[in-house]
Amino acid sequence: MSAATGGGRAFLTGSCTQALEMAALLLDLGPGDEVIVPAFTFVSTANAFASRGARPVFADSGPLNPNIEPSHVERLLSPRTRAICLVHYAGIACDLDAFAGLAREHEVALIEDNAHGLFGRYRGRPLGSFGVLATQSFHETKNVTCGEGGALIVNDPALVPRAEVLRHKGTNRARFLQGQVDKYTWVDFGSNFMASELQAAHLCAQLEAADRIQAARQAIWRRYDAALADWAAGHDVRTPVVPPWSEQPAHCYYLVMPTLAARQRLIAQLGDRGILAVFHYQALHVSDMGARFGGRPGDCPEAEALSNRLVRLPLYAGMTDQEVARVVDAVLAVEL
Ligand SMILES: Cc1ncc(COP(=O)(O)O)c(C=O)c1O
Repeated sequence: MSAATGGGRAFLTGSCTQALEMAALLLDLGPGDEVIVPAFTFVSTANAFASRGARPVFADSGPLNPNIEPSHVERLLSPRTRAICLVHYAGIACDLDAFAGLAREHEVALIEDNAHGLFGRYRGRPLGSFGVLATQSFHETKNVTCGEGGALIVNDPALVPRAEVLRHKGTNRARFLQGQVDKYTWVDFGSNFMASELQAAHLCAQLEAADRIQAARQAIWRRYDAALADWAAGHDVRTPVVPPWSEQPAHCYYLVMPTLAARQRLIAQLGDRGILAVFHYQALHVSDMGARFGGRPGDCPEAEALSNRLVRLPLYAGMTDQEVARVVDAVLAVEL
């Protein structure tokens, strides 16, 4: 695990959500602090920080892909900003040089919510190795899975001992297990952020099969991309834009349709043929909770458009050539 994410210390957790919660604890984020997060992400990216009392500040997606943009984030930085939490949507890398520069200049922590990005790279270096902390998901929808599971990658060795404590319910049990103390007691905040042996065993087998899984997923991703390029260009549909710095890990293949109505027609007509295509996040700043943190409709127009227009095509390692062809044929036949 650690090798796949660049060598930082990997702590297996019960989920990526738990890993994000550990990140918030480890960085002592709380009332008075702000954390910049994408508007177009899963709730956990914001909730982990909000639940500690910090304020999530929502950044819009860029025009080319759902990732947040350094120039937009720069405008959101304030003296209260303590961290920027990136999501590499679909495992396509954010502009990490620019974000690392911003984080350095403004002395804020860079966190990677790398739920989509295992095996992705930025300029040849693994995603998950850029933030002081990074989080992974092994939920059943991810490239490698143990049903529910996650990991916190700690790239700053100074934070490792405290991470050991937080995941052991705030106790020094890890030191006890290593024979460094003769009993373990309550020494800090914490929770049960552990995964079980059963989850770990399942994940281990998945990681051993990672080359095969990744080769299969990459072939399907490339096939969609080649087969749908002309159709997309002719129907005002956007396909994933992978910047030259990024090696994407084939986590998902998405289309951005021209309108909400077109997206719904595509989903319905694929559904009529027994093909499940699904939309994705509802922009956080316009949710009930987002509004409590000052989010308003219109603040992040790209994220709002993606909530209405993005759709993901089926993609799993066991997909046969015939199944991929059936999805492609169905998309090409959709009446928009
Ligand atoms: C970007 C992102 N972060 C965090 C999560 C939460 O992951 P988990 O279900 O492992 O808690 C998800 C879920 O898919 C996600 O998409």
